[in-house]
Amino acid sequence: MKISNSLIKNQYYHPELFEEILYRLKENEVDINNVSRRDITGIDEFHVRGAEVSNELSREIYLNNAKVLDVGCALGGPSRMLADVYNCEVTGIDICNEYIRTAKKLSELVGLVDKTKFIHADALNLPFEDGSFDIVWTQHVQMNIQDKTKFYSEINRVLTVDGILIYYDIFQKNKESVIYPVPWANNASLSFLETISVVNTLLLELGFKKLQTTDQTYKAKQFLIHLFEKIKINGQPNLGLNVLMGNSTKKKLGNILEGLEKNKIELQSGIYRK
Ligand SMILES: C[S@@+](CC[C@H](N)C(=O)[O-])C[C@H]1O[C@@H](n2cnc3c(N)ncnc32)[C@H](O)[C@@H]1O
Repeated sequence: MKISNSLIKNQYYHPELFEEILYRLKENEVDINNVSRRDITGIDEFHVRGAEVSNELSREIYLNNAKVLDVGCALGGPSRMLADVYNCEVTGIDICNEYIRTAKKLSELVGLVDKTKFIHADALNLPFEDGSFDIVWTQHVQMNIQDKTKFYSEINRVLTVDGILIYYDIFQKNKESVIYPVPWANNASLSFLETISVVNTLLLELGFKKLQTTDQTYKAKQFLIHLFEKIKINGQPNLGLNVLMGNSTKKKLGNILEGLEKNKIELQSGIYRK
């Protein structure tokens, strides 16, 4: 069955997201004329371990002044970090228009509009010339992508010769299915978990050379256990990923944790050279 992009958009749809973020920032008593990346970091990094893991990954490759494409950028937190800390020229693309609108507004809000560009586009049909980017960065997106060959071929195409792919993703570990909902899919029809070995083979077949992979499972599990402890004591944060995931946040994160504890899924980051 071919997955339709409108189903993915529905999964992530959140009307007036930017306005809600502004409202919550004001509730947090943040001066709207002086918002920093730190003020929005709870919501603009939509993956397990948020900004912490993006910062870690960024230290694994040479990024200074690079031209970067963030595939499936959502609200653009990692894109802004790369632009701000490493002076990268970053383009983020996402299939969800409301996320792209919000990403642009958030960049305006924190003064990074000159170094970040956000475009509404499909990862399977990237609107860029061959060899346009030094680095492709992608986190927690390919779980929504059925046609992984097309996904990684497009990434390969837009990379310069010797360009770098860096990913941070969730993979299937044993044959047992995760329980839904999870953050990327309310049901199985939107989820295309694949094993590390299948994706690794595909990347090599496409001509990528493996430089490094890192098992991120333990850190992800610890993060989620800790997060649940914090939620138990303090409740959900006013400006956290719960704003994006809604009432089912605890269920979605709990199902990832259960999947990790039962060895159904695992997390890995990887760096490949074209
Ligand atoms: C879990 S979020 C991760 C967002 C972001 N990479 C981050 O880590 O903050 C997954 C994102 O992938 C996007 N996505 C899924 N399928 C896509 C596609 N075919 N093309 C572009 N974006 C896609 C979704 O709209 C969503 O914003």
